[in-house]
Amino acid sequence: MKKYLFTLLMLASSLMGFAQKYEANWESIDSRPVPEWFTDAKFGIFIHWGVFSVPAWGPTDANVYDKYAEWYWNKLMNKESSVNKNFVEFHNKTYGADLKYQDFANDFNCEMFAPTDWAKVFKEAGAKYVVLTSKHHEGFTLWPSEQSWNWNAVDIGPHRDLAGDLITAVRAEGLRMGYYYSLYEWYNPLYKSDVNKYVDEHMIPQLKDLVNSYKPDIVWTDGEWDHPSEVWKSTEFLAWLYNDSPVKNEVVVNDRWGKETRSVHGGIYTTEYDLVHTGVMKETLTHPWEECRGIGGSFGYNRNENLESYSTSEELVHILIDKVARGGNLLLNIGPTADGRIPVIQQQRLKDMGDWLSVNGESIYGTTIWEKADAAKQSNVFYTKKGNDLFVICTKFPEKPLTIKGVKSAKVSMLGFDGKVSAKPSGNGLTFTAPSVTPATNPCDYAWVFKLEGVK
Ligand code: GLC
Repeated sequence: MKKYLFTLLMLASSLMGFAQKYEANWESIDSRPVPEWFTDAKFGIFIHWGVFSVPAWGPTDANVYDKYAEWYWNKLMNKESSVNKNFVEFHNKTYGADLKYQDFANDFNCEMFAPTDWAKVFKEAGAKYVVLTSKHHEGFTLWPSEQSWNWNAVDIGPHRDLAGDLITAVRAEGLRMGYYYSLYEWYNPLYKSDVNKYVDEHMIPQLKDLVNSYKPDIVWTDGEWDHPSEVWKSTEFLAWLYNDSPVKNEVVVNDRWGKETRSVHGGIYTTEYDLVHTGVMKETLTHPWEECRGIGGSFGYNRNENLESYSTSEELVHILIDKVARGGNLLLNIGPTADGRIPVIQQQRLKDMGDWLSVNGESIYGTTIWEKADAAKQSNVFYTKKGNDLFVICTKFPEKPLTIKGVKSAKVSMLGFDGKVSAKPSGNGLTFTAPSVTPATNPCDYAWVFKLEGVK
């Protein structure tokens, strides 16, 4: 009887909106499940845009992190380091040594920025969510933040609430949107002189303003590595976000909340060009995670990149498949220009992904890892699962019969193809042969998907 009473009380309290209260410690914060919309979404667009989009320059032949054009200011300020030599040379030659980074803000004009066009590009790419840099390490905010003083896009540069205008347009297309937010600011005098005061008087009020003003679906923090999460007061902020904020039920956060938190605490785990800090992560994870990377080697637009620096559409589709089959999402970055355009070549890459997803999206969105994938491993073949259906995703068109170990029977079809695909049990698996396609009946490029319905 007592037990029933307790269950009844729990049910009543959740119906009345008394949801669980999270406490400001990692055990409690980590107990919140990642909202399902995120793990279903699989594919998002990252946008790095800011004052760094004006010089828009980085070397193309450096280590992963040294190619980032959005680090331009920091590289200039650390002249003595030999890896930054190219930045300094480029700057002095192009703008003169006297031009300060801050002056670039006057040329961040965004006069071609058309948020509804951008939102259409994202929708047609098949992306389900968008993450925009509301503030990168330079401290410049893309919304009129009171704490930024006038170092923001409304007071200087475009004189426009870029963050607000984009979220409105993206939501009108039915996509979710959130913001990247850098905890640290390289050259904020308060950050440099008194980090505690910076956190209390600048960072926390600024983050709360961002959340209250735009109600983002994602709070994607970064720039956490200088201090442990305790200094950033991360669990206090997250307890507020999960208990009291206007986005408490649906918001998704990542794992960048302090130097000790990546792949350990927070919401989704993050990899960046397959790295966690400096270690490579190529595993299958059951904890929700997301890989982010540029189409090229930089997040901020890098004018120094040529075609060979960019991943091909085929490579990008294969990257998406690999991440999803290992339980992850892909957050693919674009770097708009300072005048507000998405470079056409980046649009083209996104369109190709959208074309592939329009035929094969069923094998991506809302899927999970297949628990027998390891036993059925074979080259150029990936697996995802949804209910009783298994998707066999081939990154090369299978010319020979395929045998999927661990499957006894299923109805087999090829996504986007009308004809029959017959299958028969063989040994410890199910064998089928891809239909022969002609240029007219080939449903897509880059990867072909076989749907195995009612797998036994
Ligand atoms: C980083 C970088 C950066 C980029 C990013 C994306 O660690 O500092 O410039 O914004 O993470 O994951």
